[in-house]
Amino acid sequence: MAKKGPKTVFVCSECGYESPKWMGQCICGAWNTFTEERVADTSASSALSSKNREHRIVKPAPIRDIVSGETERMDTGIGELNRVLGGGLIKGSLTLISGEPGIGKSTILLQAAAGIARKYGRVLYVSGEESGEQIRLRADRIGGLSDDLYLLSETELELILDAVAEFKPVFLIIDSIQTVYSSQLTSAAGSVSQVRACTAEIMRVVKQAGIPAFIVAHVTKSGDLAGPKIVEHLVDTVLNFSGERNHGFRILRSYKNRFGNTSEIGAFEMSSEGLREIADLSASVLEETSRGAEGSVVTAVYEGSRPLLLEVQALVSPSGVGFARRSSIGFDPGRLNMIIAVLEKRTGLKLMSSDVYVNVAGGIRPEGTSIDLAVAAAISSAALGRPMADPRTIVLGEIGLTGELRGISQPERIASEAARMGFTKILMPEKNRIRWSGPENIEIIGAKDLREAVNKVLQH
Ligand SMILES: Nc1ncnc2c1ncn2[C@@H]1O[C@H](COP(=O)(O)OP(=O)(O)O)[C@@H](O)[C@H]1O
Ligand SMILES: [Mg+2]
Repeated sequence: MAKKGPKTVFVCSECGYESPKWMGQCICGAWNTFTEERVADTSASSALSSKNREHRIVKPAPIRDIVSGETERMDTGIGELNRVLGGGLIKGSLTLISGEPGIGKSTILLQAAAGIARKYGRVLYVSGEESGEQIRLRADRIGGLSDDLYLLSETELELILDAVAEFKPVFLIIDSIQTVYSSQLTSAAGSVSQVRACTAEIMRVVKQAGIPAFIVAHVTKSGDLAGPKIVEHLVDTVLNFSGERNHGFRILRSYKNRFGNTSEIGAFEMSSEGLREIADLSASVLEETSRGAEGSVVTAVYEGSRPLLLEVQALVSPSGVGFARRSSIGFDPGRLNMIIAVLEKRTGLKLMSSDVYVNVAGGIRPEGTSIDLAVAAAISSAALGRPMADPRTIVLGEIGLTGELRGISQPERIASEAARMGFTKILMPEKNRIRWSGPENIEIIGAKDLREAVNKVLQH
């Protein structure tokens, strides 16, 4: 039998894949993410909890006897956060919030901590990154003071969990999981084995005590620290906070939720008083648009259940020697190449020796294909130097390879939102127009294919 003892393995900080030797690229596709870790003789995470396990007999229970905690949702005091969580925070749930450093994770959690403390009682905010004074300073700035909000600057897991058992908070925050380490493991804080084992142990404790908890995980570009993906499968809910750091918008999305759907988003704006909720996202996004300019087209997507109006901007310029550049922000680059190819083939637009840049304004990254037609219209507009015939027009539709326009789902609610924002026309696929049952205060223009659509919306 092989002798058991600490062994050295190389672990990918993106996906947690373990390899006996160092590799430049992991099987998950990430480069330079392997770090050397020493693992204990038995599996690290089971070593942590096995000491608590005595011999007992377990018995299945009838499903009808199980009390559902669905009604026990806590109000975080932040409406947008409640919605993304599925209507509030479930007792005993563990939520991971990830995002790039500086995006506002500590800020939103401090705001939620203060909100919960005011309403429900003692909240414990554990920080391994900032001192009590730093957090106090932030709390002063964002109005996050409460008599029931307690801070603990600590990084050793065992001490943190002892404090939780002693203090019995109604809500727990650990900021961040990459700074926490268990003294039972030899590897460094932030390593894959530490992050995994500490998360599993926190999960066990909060489930047992019925305390809802949030853990923060930074998204790191280098492979030095274990990333949030390592623990996504362990936790109940995974939230991601994103946006552009120099732009005020912050979007909170859920990628996994054991207690709600994952389609809702929360919209915020970073200000000196903390994160402000944005109820009217379309108005905020469209505030700074260049409507009426060449290459600017307004479209709409569903972000969760809410229709959101967006501006797509395109710039087309002659490319220098060499190859033509195609670049996009907020839109899939592969899809951009497809749309350019379809535009060239089906509408005769010549883009071969032009650079094409596409930007979805406002730092929003819409998912789905319903903004295809707006991207195509914006590129045509920029290339031909023809702005929209009527800037109060919304353009909707998916483009197929033959240049045909595919219908989109639920254009009616988008139309209501567009009308509310002062738009008077919507160009949409003919299939949507013939089945139209939406508001009548907005003119519906149908188009069968890309060529017809571009001709109908751009100035002649
Ligand atoms: N005095 C301030 N006024 C306005 N915004 C601030 C101020 N201090 C910090 N911020 C904002 O807060 C952000 C940091 O938020 P934080 O919650 O610490 O991020 P994270 O925890 O995700 O790293 C900064 O990037 C900045 O946008
Ligand atoms: Mg922080």
